[in-house]
Amino acid sequence: MAEVVRVGLGERAYDIVIGSGVRERAAELGAGLFLVTDSRVEELYGAWAKQAFGAVETFVFPAGECSKEPATVVDICRRAAAARFDRRACFIALGGGVTGDMTGFAAAIYMRGVAFVQIPTTLLAMVDSSVGGKTGVDIPEGKNLIGVFHQPKMVLIDTDFLKTLPVREIRCGLAEIVKTGVILDAGLFRELEQDPAALVERIDLNRYEKIIRRCCELKAGVVVADEREAGLRAILNYGHTFGHAVELLSNFSISHGEAVAIGMCAAAELAVKLGSISHEDAARQKALLTALGLPAVLDRRYSVDAVLDAMGRDKKNSGGRIKVVLPDGIGRAKVCQPPVEAIRAAVEAIYA
Ligand SMILES: NC(=O)c1ccc[n+]([C@@H]2O[C@H](COP(=O)([O-])OP(=O)(O)OC[C@H]3O[C@@H](n4cnc5c(N)ncnc54)[C@H](O)[C@@H]3O)[C@@H](O)[C@H]2O)c1
Ligand SMILES: [Zn+2]
Repeated sequence: MAEVVRVGLGERAYDIVIGSGVRERAAELGAGLFLVTDSRVEELYGAWAKQAFGAVETFVFPAGECSKEPATVVDICRRAAAARFDRRACFIALGGGVTGDMTGFAAAIYMRGVAFVQIPTTLLAMVDSSVGGKTGVDIPEGKNLIGVFHQPKMVLIDTDFLKTLPVREIRCGLAEIVKTGVILDAGLFRELEQDPAALVERIDLNRYEKIIRRCCELKAGVVVADEREAGLRAILNYGHTFGHAVELLSNFSISHGEAVAIGMCAAAELAVKLGSISHEDAARQKALLTALGLPAVLDRRYSVDAVLDAMGRDKKNSGGRIKVVLPDGIGRAKVCQPPVEAIRAAVEAIYA
């Protein structure tokens, strides 16, 4: 049975359809489809896509964050133009967050905007990146520095894709799920605390379906309240200001989810220092991340100065002060611009 979460954005409203087997609905998407996917997903699901979509134009790029750059988006658009797609085209993003962010961006700018559908195949994309319409690419100066808001016309979340996902990628998705629990839903956080190791060791699709649905409901609620991040939506960046800095400094050898886990630990340290969560709650978060096999400490090779410098370049800063999201107990969060010395001390506190 498929579950549907509606993202109530007026004329840009759309459904998120969640369940085992929902990928078969892709066959109903109609004509003018342009499939974009990465090399790994093509290897695993190319045959399925051919059968579902027929002989559609397909653009395959090398898997990995390194492909998430302007040149790939230009290539996607050039391929669409060469294949004579017009404004009625619908781009299909089949893959993880890299594919979704980049395909959405290409769809937003190709002929000043065509429709796109998200078919997320990673846990991270299912619970986070495929919902909400943030699209874009990285440049050497920073992650996601180029991009636009462009909502998909549908999100099809088929939990069966999780069966082939490597455990490291499962963990990355779990980092975003922990984030969602900490900032929005203490109940979700407690659900994760029930046998966290099982979430990594065996993929129980029923349990995951419920968790994914909850994350989509929560994210949809935030996006509907603040589509373009004028305020509330910024809380979804919990762990990300620190995390993006670490991700960039590691040259992406630390994955997004791992970096976010480290970032949430730093943010929680800061929150303890500033009195917005208890030491016990910070310890609970650290224990959960560790039980999920996620990193909770930072390697000394990343100096505080380098981390602060990279954080200072985050696009969400304003007025020269670094913006960070801090938990306000478990289940709530707020955006702050604490003194840089406090941020420095929080980074110091998470060294291995
Ligand atoms: N737009 C947003 O709101 C938002 C939110 C969070 C993250 N993001 C972005 O998402 C990206 C990270 O996404 P990601 O972790 O999905 O990365 P990804 O797209 O690179 O996927 C990770 C790896 O898993 C492989 N893969 C995908 N599906 C698979 C499957 N079913 N089985 C086996 N292998 C599979 C991919 O080929 C890739 O090698 C980052 O660029 C981040 O900035 C965006
Ligand atoms: Zn993220």
